[in-house]
Amino acid sequence: MPFMSSLFTDIISSKKKKIFAAPMADVTNPAFRALCAMHGADLTFTEMINADGLLNGDRYAEDRGFSADGKPYGVQISGSTAEGISKAACLLEDMFHPAVIDINMGCPSPRIVRSGCGASLLTKEGLPAQIVRETVGAVSTPVSVKMRILKNEDETIRLAESIQDAGAAAVTVHGRTRDMMYAGKSDTAVIRRVRETLSIPVIANGDVRDEASASRVFDETGCDTVMIGRAAIGNPFIFERISFFLTTGKIHPFISERLHASDTGPSETRQRVADFIKYCDLLDKNDLFGCVNIRAHAQWFTSGLADSGNIRLMINDLHKNVKIDINDRPALTEERKQLAAEIIAILEEHYGAPWHHRSGGLRWSGPGAPADAGDYFFVPMMTPMFDLRSFPTDATIPGPSVFSLQTMTDSSRPSFSTP
Ligand SMILES: Cc1cc2nc3c(=O)[nH]c(=O)nc-3n(C[C@H](O)[C@H](O)[C@H](O)COP(=O)(O)O)c2cc1C
Repeated sequence: MPFMSSLFTDIISSKKKKIFAAPMADVTNPAFRALCAMHGADLTFTEMINADGLLNGDRYAEDRGFSADGKPYGVQISGSTAEGISKAACLLEDMFHPAVIDINMGCPSPRIVRSGCGASLLTKEGLPAQIVRETVGAVSTPVSVKMRILKNEDETIRLAESIQDAGAAAVTVHGRTRDMMYAGKSDTAVIRRVRETLSIPVIANGDVRDEASASRVFDETGCDTVMIGRAAIGNPFIFERISFFLTTGKIHPFISERLHASDTGPSETRQRVADFIKYCDLLDKNDLFGCVNIRAHAQWFTSGLADSGNIRLMINDLHKNVKIDINDRPALTEERKQLAAEIIAILEEHYGAPWHHRSGGLRWSGPGAPADAGDYFFVPMMTPMFDLRSFPTDATIPGPSVFSLQTMTDSSRPSFSTP
């Protein structure tokens, strides 16, 4: 599929600094990836899809691997053998036509390592290269590898070289060893050495969580692509704020409003609530509620918001004693939609409807304008037809008398409408 091959090459070789969304199990489902892409992630990756599971008819692979927005993305495979991974790659290529197929050689979780997958591959002499060679030979989609560093720096370099020589189109390096799990610091010096040694693109991963850390990782590794994992959980806006910084050299206005580094300011809070609502909408539209732990995601989306401790307790209390058979997907879907609707109602009550504001000469003076409207103008985040540029700069926006948010109930999903 030459079209797909060139897609990844075009993205990875573009001259601008790029930010990818890392593969994360139970996080980067199609709805969440779409949200990351909306906020400017240049490429997103699926959570790992296990090769053996897929070959044995894993019914959830379908839910994890598709695209909810038609944008290019990578599908990640975990597995323990070259045969299993290359066969799974063929299947995934046919199922999803991703821009790149990524092989997981970094996951340190004991369950994954015990089954011979993830980071356990790194120390099996010759196996990483064999896996890449067979997979590259089996598919026409570019193949990349996501690896951790080894304790010995020279061995890390040799391993990365063997992966390149076997035909990988790119390598992502997380600058921690398998034993470090997620503790300590990602070693940017080793990532830099890998980048200086290889001729294929190297993507730097580990500890990018804001503008300063992104700049540091770009500078210290010399890579022109960084991959963000944990900082994006419940916070897809991270891609927008870092992209803003990379293009303007300035801190995004939402972030400048913060009174404390760890607490979101009013606009960022509204953005986060809007993102959660949009996320629920995407889960609903793509029939994904049944396979997503919406309570956990709600906890992540509310982390760092003012009074989030109380909000999170309230979320925990919802539907506490409801028990549903995890194999009963329709019932799970209905239950989680209902739960999501109640969470959204709590967020709106606490933080207000998620109006988006941008500085400019506009003032929202309509009924219901928030007290802090000031010189900002507020528009609903989710009105796709609403074009900010179509308003003259001295216009008055009539606020919720024009647009209102319909709170989700069990039978309807969140959407804006004109009353
Ligand atoms: C919840 C969670 C799930 C993850 N799942 C995967 C995965 O499926 N595949 C993978 O290669 N790495 C996985 N990772 C590792 C991340 O992709 C990334 O390498 C790591 O978090 C370091 O980047 P960060 O410092 O930006 O978080 C996961 C990490 C977390 C926190």
